[in-house]
Amino acid sequence: MRPRSVRRKTLFAVLAATVALVSGATTVSAAPVQHRPAYLDTGKPVPVRVADLLSRMSLDDKLGQMTQAERGAITDPADIATHRLGSLLSGGGSVPTPNTAQSWADMYDGFQRAALTSPLRIPIIYGVDAVHGHNNVHGATIFPHNIGLGATRDPKLVGRIGGAVAEEVSGTGVDWDFAPCLCVARNDRWGRTYESFGETPELASSMTTIIDGLQGRSSSDKGSILATAKHYVGDGGTTGGVDQGDTELTEQQLRAIHLPPFRAAVRRGVGSVMISYSSWNGVKMHANRYLITDVLKGELGFSGFVVSDWQGIDKIDGQEGFTAEEVRTSINAGVDMVMVPYDYVSFIDTLRAEVQAGRVPMSRIDDANRRILTKKFQLGLFERPFTDRRYTATVGSAEHRALARQAVRESQVLLKNDGGVLPLGKNGQKIFVAGKNADDIGNQSGGWTITWQGSSGPITPGTTILQGIRDKARSSAVTYDRNGAGIDGSYDVAVAVVGETPYAEFMGDRPAGMGLDAEDLATLRRLKGSGVPVVVVLVSGRPLDIAAELPGWDALLASWLPGTEGGGVADVLFGDYNPAGKLPVTWMRSAAQQPINVGDGQDPLFPYGYGLRYRRG
Ligand code: GLC
Repeated sequence: MRPRSVRRKTLFAVLAATVALVSGATTVSAAPVQHRPAYLDTGKPVPVRVADLLSRMSLDDKLGQMTQAERGAITDPADIATHRLGSLLSGGGSVPTPNTAQSWADMYDGFQRAALTSPLRIPIIYGVDAVHGHNNVHGATIFPHNIGLGATRDPKLVGRIGGAVAEEVSGTGVDWDFAPCLCVARNDRWGRTYESFGETPELASSMTTIIDGLQGRSSSDKGSILATAKHYVGDGGTTGGVDQGDTELTEQQLRAIHLPPFRAAVRRGVGSVMISYSSWNGVKMHANRYLITDVLKGELGFSGFVVSDWQGIDKIDGQEGFTAEEVRTSINAGVDMVMVPYDYVSFIDTLRAEVQAGRVPMSRIDDANRRILTKKFQLGLFERPFTDRRYTATVGSAEHRALARQAVRESQVLLKNDGGVLPLGKNGQKIFVAGKNADDIGNQSGGWTITWQGSSGPITPGTTILQGIRDKARSSAVTYDRNGAGIDGSYDVAVAVVGETPYAEFMGDRPAGMGLDAEDLATLRRLKGSGVPVVVVLVSGRPLDIAAELPGWDALLASWLPGTEGGGVADVLFGDYNPAGKLPVTWMRSAAQQPINVGDGQDPLFPYGYGLRYRRG
């Protein structure tokens, strides 16, 4: 079923073309209707337009459509048309200078203008990882990472977030989002645990509402972009939680745990699926024809297109670079577009040779092109190839930040609250705030923020948790010292905002200990030594091994990676919002318990679904 807005777009385009015809203007191309090729005729059904365009394409036109290049690899925009490139992307942190919404829109339009100089004027589709907001762009709204959204148990909210992200992404020209990650994180040692909505297929499946937000808004004048269900399949189930590792499961287990979110995404009409770097029982997913073609495209009926991960085909043989065999194997397995992303000329040459040698059938090339072009027509890229600047001002808008703050409130999970130390008092309290994550937008946003790995510091506009606390405290006095220096018995309460610093992908794997770092432990010891009640706010992408320290804490709030709107954490700390978040993942008693998941018979510190509320009255 096509997303509502795509249907609406087609209807709108037909109406516009009709009006244009009557008024004599043309909305699609300069050619008069009777001479316009069928693929440029918005009055024709998409399958007819695709078939007409395909019939006009050379082999090189078709190979180019299956090729995605990193923007940084384009030294001369003319290369886009020369090599008939079908897609560009910004990898994490690959941004124009200056890194502003306007500059992104200008960059996108420049690339698109170059693409439209090709003989058939096929527009590019441009992809980014907007995985918790349009997170590459300075000033964009940064929403909580998926693990926090899972804690909300609020699919409607997550759908609205998809719509807000689609607007901000559209406002920069970009039309394809490599999100949502529908990984089911089964081992918290995995560096991408925070990109998961949680440890059960039901929770991840419930949050596929974000696809409706990204691809099809309720209002016709809101931007919509192509979503990507990733990473197919089993990325969160590798042995030891090793990123890009091996998921050693029976087919029944794989189907029960990791496939359901993709089934749900396909039912919602997700436009693309990205293949996982990981393997299933020793076979690289990028080479797995059974799971990609027979299961995803056949059994699940996925009609969009399959994209590789970044250099994903290179990793099939475990060596650097791609070989003719890897190109042949991945395309024949069902990959429709390859995120090369640098050696795209060599990729095209290699694939051409494989087709001409008869090792990749032309039917496979045509199927891939049909899938890609169908999405480009449905997105309206042929009629509206350039940035819709109506949405550029939505980037970082007050409306979106308010939505993000609501998501932060709902994502907070209260795990301990002895003696009702929370909520904090707005009046008359002496509050001491400490911890490396109290006043750091970068740390509270986590990876995939402005850069691929993210970083500490004031990396983008937002409200830190400390600022949120200060904003809330009326006559209460707030003192801050990162390491707790100055704390004494005169304070009513100490709030320690601790946890992890940013990381992404394999950089975040924790094969050994999963406890707090030395700085946090020292800060907590200092606070504890003062005899003042201690509230711990844990800013992390996963549960940490804190069982030994927990008895010394009076309260514990799991904040996850809230993003730019730290005021939402303060809303909960001061009781303006009664915490209702529920654990999206089981909280270990010890790292030795990993993997630990609901129903596995182990005894956790806090079970999946756990969360306290404030007693009112
Ligand atoms: C990365 C990630 C994937 C992302 C892609 C493009 O390596 O695995 O999630 O979409 O490359 O940045």
